[in-house]
Amino acid sequence: MKVEFELNGKEQKFDVKPGEVLLDLLRDNGCKSVKRGCETGDCGACMVLVNGRAMTSCTLFAAQVDGKEIRTVEGMEDNLTDQLKQFMLEAGAVQCGFCTPGVLISAYSLLTHNKNPSEEEIKAALDGNLCRCTGYVKQIDAIKETADSIGGSSDGKK
Ligand code: FES
Ligand code: FES
Repeated sequence: MKVEFELNGKEQKFDVKPGEVLLDLLRDNGCKSVKRGCETGDCGACMVLVNGRAMTSCTLFAAQVDGKEIRTVEGMEDNLTDQLKQFMLEAGAVQCGFCTPGVLISAYSLLTHNKNPSEEEIKAALDGNLCRCTGYVKQIDAIKETADSIGGSSDGKK
């Protein structure tokens, strides 16, 4: 069947096989930032933005995103993304890097909907992202720094 959606800012049509998951379609079309981890919705390595919200692409059929707007790290080129990348690097939040695209997606989704998240809200946003290297502290620090930089205070006070 044909499925049409916006991928990284470009409206595109895809021939989708029955049962094809979004993770496979994206990786087959050059979006290698979308990592194949557990394939059961538990690790967050395959996260993408679906209409601006972080979702696991291994648990979505490609046909389910017909008409939606999908963004992967390849298509994130704005100031918020730049700041997140910079603070993740500075905080030492990138070690093996396998979880990093998924963490970027979750952090981006959080900060576009909440510019001043509390630590609890940051932890909740990263709840679906498994990282076996960092212990999460550095990632949380990087998100706090980014929130400060984009104008929130990152102390959770509204
Ligand atoms: S590969 Fe999708 S959540 Fe793990
Ligand atoms: S940096 Fe290695 S899994 Fe997160």
